Amino acid sequence: MVEQSVYSGFLCLLIGLILITKIQLCVGGITSDYVRNYNSNVDMPLDSDVFQVPHGYNAPQQVYITQGDHDGKGVIVSWTTPNEPGANTVLYWTENSCVKSSAEGFVVRYKYCNYTSGYIHHCTINDLEFDTKYYYEVGLGNTTRQFWFVTPPKPGPYVPYTFGLIGDLGQTYDSNSTLTHYELSPLKGQTLLFVGDLSYADNYPFHNNIRWDTWGRFIERSAAYQPWIWSAGNHEIDFVPEIGESKPFVPYKHRFSTPYRASESTSPLWYSIKRASAYIIVMSSYSAFGKYTPQWKWLTNELPKVDRSETPWLIVLMHCPMYSSYVHHYMEGETMRVIYEPWFVKYKVDVVFAGHVHAYERSESVSNVAYNIINGKCSPVKDEFAPVYITIGDGGNQEGLATEMTQPQPRYSAYREASFGHGILDIKNRTHAYFGWHRNHDGFAVEADTLWLLNRYWKLKERVAVS
Ligand SMILES: *[C@@H]1O[C@H](CO)[C@@H](O)[C@H](O)[C@H]1NC(C)=O
Ligand SMILES: *[C@@H]1O[C@H](CO)[C@@H](O)[C@H](O)[C@H]1NC(C)=O
Ligand SMILES: *[C@@H]1O[C@H](CO)[C@@H](O)[C@H](O)[C@H]1NC(C)=O
Ligand SMILES: *[C@@H]1O[C@H](CO)[C@@H](O)[C@H](O)[C@H]1NC(C)=O
Ligand SMILES: [Fe+2]
Repeated sequence: MVEQSVYSGFLCLLIGLILITKIQLCVGGITSDYVRNYNSNVDMPLDSDVFQVPHGYNAPQQVYITQGDHDGKGVIVSWTTPNEPGANTVLYWTENSCVKSSAEGFVVRYKYCNYTSGYIHHCTINDLEFDTKYYYEVGLGNTTRQFWFVTPPKPGPYVPYTFGLIGDLGQTYDSNSTLTHYELSPLKGQTLLFVGDLSYADNYPFHNNIRWDTWGRFIERSAAYQPWIWSAGNHEIDFVPEIGESKPFVPYKHRFSTPYRASESTSPLWYSIKRASAYIIVMSSYSAFGKYTPQWKWLTNELPKVDRSETPWLIVLMHCPMYSSYVHHYMEGETMRVIYEPWFVKYKVDVVFAGHVHAYERSESVSNVAYNIINGKCSPVKDEFAPVYITIGDGGNQEGLATEMTQPQPRYSAYREASFGHGILDIKNRTHAYFGWHRNHDGFAVEADTLWLLNRYWKLKERVAVS
């Protein structure tokens, strides 16, 4: 008797579970049941190992590189000297060469409230060989420092290349864990695509810019050796008229260089680069982007220029996501979506990466371009040629995780999870790319969410050719 009721109870439970799973599947994708054992959201203290100032008088610190031209033969080296300007020169050479070449940069300084920056150097090296390892050196006399980087292969349709993705990093213990996981990932990222919100210095009184310096020293261990491709988030705006700071993006623009002129942009905040088989468009969520604005005008000219037979992969970076089903920042990206989604669908963008929401989410291939304000078609529909939208604002900053999600999970949302991590986009060839999202909590090789991404443009081409 007892046994029978236990049995039927179990059966009910089983049916219930199946029903619940079914219902979840019908409504949307997967909401991960992983719950992060969440303990700290404090920044690493100023005397942490990761913030250590290099030894020697006026030694270069905060050394980082980014792409310096449109094709990948240029590199911008940036560094800061704390005491005096020092030299603007970068010496560089290949492994086998016996002569060192040199490039000359320039130095800038800025004031922010009562903070005065060090001497921030930016030096563009042009006309490097593709696919080559270079060593480089900055600084003077007994305080020179040496690093290296590898240039990408010449842009071409079948060139494999691996990008890392990090957003909203900050400088907490979790940030350090994210960076460590990225460095130790078996799918070695060759270039990092950063989707905005860098140091979170602006959360300190008077936006204490010392926390910009610590952040620069923190990321050096990766960013001095591989390019970090920058996009700006809301924590880069630093607009505080009350304390006399009424010009936006001052610390960010002085500290980070982008090769915007090479793509005929008029602002370092939006630009494009080619790298191996990818064409990357960086947008600015916090600059004017409405119709007729400089950013809008730039993008109208930019998208038709992308030659998918040279760079098959079209990737867009922006800070604020256009699709996000978290409660925090809900619909903040809607104005951007209304204006730009029709172009992303038309031009067969493969994937749009964003940050801002401190969690991970991947959408289905969806399009909401049929909607206008009166037709009621307000639900995104599946469209295999539309982009996938990935939110990767889970770098681990002091504001903590965005844990609250809209319920039920919308149909367009394929996977969402509130924990820290980074992404890897591993482009295999013209048609296939593999995306993996790595949760910090797991071993370095473990991916919590993965996707084979099929190239939107070439999939459509092949479909048309067959029919
Ligand atoms: C700037 O002002 C704040 C608040 O008065 C103070 O705590 C800080 O030490 C000052 N910083 C500098 C570099 O003077
Ligand atoms: C480094 O160079 C400076 C000036 O050229 C000199 O004063 C200092 O003693 C040197 N330090 C070492 C450790 O050689
Ligand atoms: C940051 O991570 C690195 C690499 O794992 C480690 O060596 C270092 O001690 C960490 N620093 C802090 C402050 O956690
Ligand atoms: C592209 O890469 C995928 C995944 O590795 C592979 O299955 C496919 O055969 C490759 N295509 C070509 C044309 O090499
Ligand atoms: Fe943000």
